[in-house]
Amino acid sequence: MSAMPNRVFVPPPHALDRNLALEVVRVTEASALAASRWIGRGDEKAADEAATEAMRQALNSLSMDGRLVNGSGAITLSNGDKVGTGTGPKVDIVLTPIEGATICAKGSHNAISVVAATQEGSFLHVPADAYMEKLAVGPGLPQGVIDLSVTPEDNLLNVAAAKGVAVADLTVCMLDRPRHADLLGRIYEAGARVVLIDDGDVSGAIAVGLPQTGIDLYMGSGGAAEGVLAAAGLKCLGGQMQCRLLLRSDDDRAKARAAGITDPRAQWTIDDMVKGEVMFAATGITDGNILAGIRLRSGGATSHSLVMRSATGTLRTITSQHDFTRHAQLHQD
Ligand code: FBP
Repeated sequence: MSAMPNRVFVPPPHALDRNLALEVVRVTEASALAASRWIGRGDEKAADEAATEAMRQALNSLSMDGRLVNGSGAITLSNGDKVGTGTGPKVDIVLTPIEGATICAKGSHNAISVVAATQEGSFLHVPADAYMEKLAVGPGLPQGVIDLSVTPEDNLLNVAAAKGVAVADLTVCMLDRPRHADLLGRIYEAGARVVLIDDGDVSGAIAVGLPQTGIDLYMGSGGAAEGVLAAAGLKCLGGQMQCRLLLRSDDDRAKARAAGITDPRAQWTIDDMVKGEVMFAATGITDGNILAGIRLRSGGATSHSLVMRSATGTLRTITSQHDFTRHAQLHQD
């Protein structure tokens, strides 16, 4: 008797239209391509403006009733803005047209364009310009293996034990900032390696979920809006993340209250920051930890993106060839 054929895979129904994920990658492609014209030109404002405008236009072509939360775009995209055609599902969006405008201007590493989308009301709202402490690991580790309320040394020991390796075998990613001097010294002292990045802690945190990066943990503080974006990516990858607001002044505390945060010392997990199903798309602008950057050539470019959905855990890597001449003709017609 012949063996039973494998069952045909039938995608399950989901709250968010799964095709939206593939539409959203067009948005990050558009902003990354616009930013790429400004790579290495020393003008971060121009790069930011170009990427933001391209992202706004691309978002507005999507069939959704979208709303921006935790807005971090320059000039034409901000918190509460409506995006999309206004028809279709109610969707909340967090985004950054260029994560790392400075590094794009410098022609340096790790600039990406990112959008995450979820059902209305699913994203944690954080105050504008707030900072968060962040701690993240990839999938396959026991729940609770990381904890912001224990010492960095204990987190390293616990992750090493869970992975069955020594602390010396762990690699931590962190923003290269003076405020991290103490943490950095303690990690070196504990024996782990540290990859210091100039900017871009969304890709830094996401890197823990992508084995090819060799990054085991993300540690340190950075933008709160970027923390929620990273949580969206890590939810798709099955990683773990903990974040806590870094409130350094009365003004910071007042902003947190105004954003509706009742416990400013709360330690948020991924599910606190991204309650529902989420989709995440990112396109590289310059080469970095998780994505290759835009390759410009005469009359066109190649882009590299990743698209993920938390519902299925599917991760797609998309390499696209763009023909600028045909694009221009389309827009003239
Ligand atoms: P921008 O895209 O706004 O330049 O942010 C880059 C970034 O490195 C973020 O990834 C990170 O969360 C934040 O800046 C860190 O802030 P700071 O530079 O003040 O340490």
